[in-house]
Amino acid sequence: AKVYLNGEIVTSENATISVFDRGFLFGDGIYEVMVQLENGIFYKKAHLDRLQENLVKIGIEYQVSELEKEIEPLLIASELVDQPCLIYMQVTRGVAPRKHSYPKGIPATAMMYALPFQLPYINQKNMHAILQTDFRWHRCDIKSISLLGNIMSNEAAMLAGTGEAALVRDGIITEGSHTNIFFVKDDTVITHPANEHILDGITRKILVKLCQELNIPLVERGISVEEIPTMEEAFFTGTSTQIASIAQLDNHTFHAPDDFGPITRKLQDALASLKE
Ligand code: PDD
Repeated sequence: AKVYLNGEIVTSENATISVFDRGFLFGDGIYEVMVQLENGIFYKKAHLDRLQENLVKIGIEYQVSELEKEIEPLLIASELVDQPCLIYMQVTRGVAPRKHSYPKGIPATAMMYALPFQLPYINQKNMHAILQTDFRWHRCDIKSISLLGNIMSNEAAMLAGTGEAALVRDGIITEGSHTNIFFVKDDTVITHPANEHILDGITRKILVKLCQELNIPLVERGISVEEIPTMEEAFFTGTSTQIASIAQLDNHTFHAPDDFGPITRKLQDALASLKE
């Protein structure tokens, strides 16, 4: 694969960074994942804006426009122009002797690659998920490359033979290990507010807008574990996940394996039509 690294496009073998890079030492950086479909990069501006906002949050002075202008050259070098692919970007604080406080005046490390990627079948169903304690930190709004809490929770889901973990903080379901979570009750869509306990997903933002357009009431509140059996539908959302209907969460079954919740289905179709 080809990699953009600090101003150059090189083969992955030649894309090397210092062991003193703060991304390597501290996980001190921000990342972004977007997908290119037949008609372009899906919600590119929203992803690039989020990357810039997150860099500002942690005080990394880097202009995302630098990475943006390298997307096209990278896609050409990767032979992925107009091809379905996933674009990964990450910016770390740069290389400096290990010291917790932010070093001043060092250039950030910027990296990006693109790999072929097919979106999952648009109407995903039959997702099983477990509940896991949300033991992550209190700034989950930051798209940090430090993802230990997320990957440990996801691994637990895989070991349990399920597809995702729904994270529970103080009895409230926040989000998935790499997705946002939505519920449906009485024809109302419910999702956790975009505060510091979740990542404000781009797909989540799109769904909030789609619900408005489709006149589906949407409430932003956290659902407690006790409420799960009272919910009628549930689904996960994310850039690479799309909308995945949850057939079973913990020991509660929402629907048969090859069925869908009707509102979930409606939103899946609406999201799919945005991509045509
Ligand atoms: N995951 N919540 C978390 C914790 C996430 O990591 C993600 C994205 C989402 C959904 O955000 P979006 O709709 O903007 O993709 C929610 C990315 C794709 C990943 O780590 O692979």
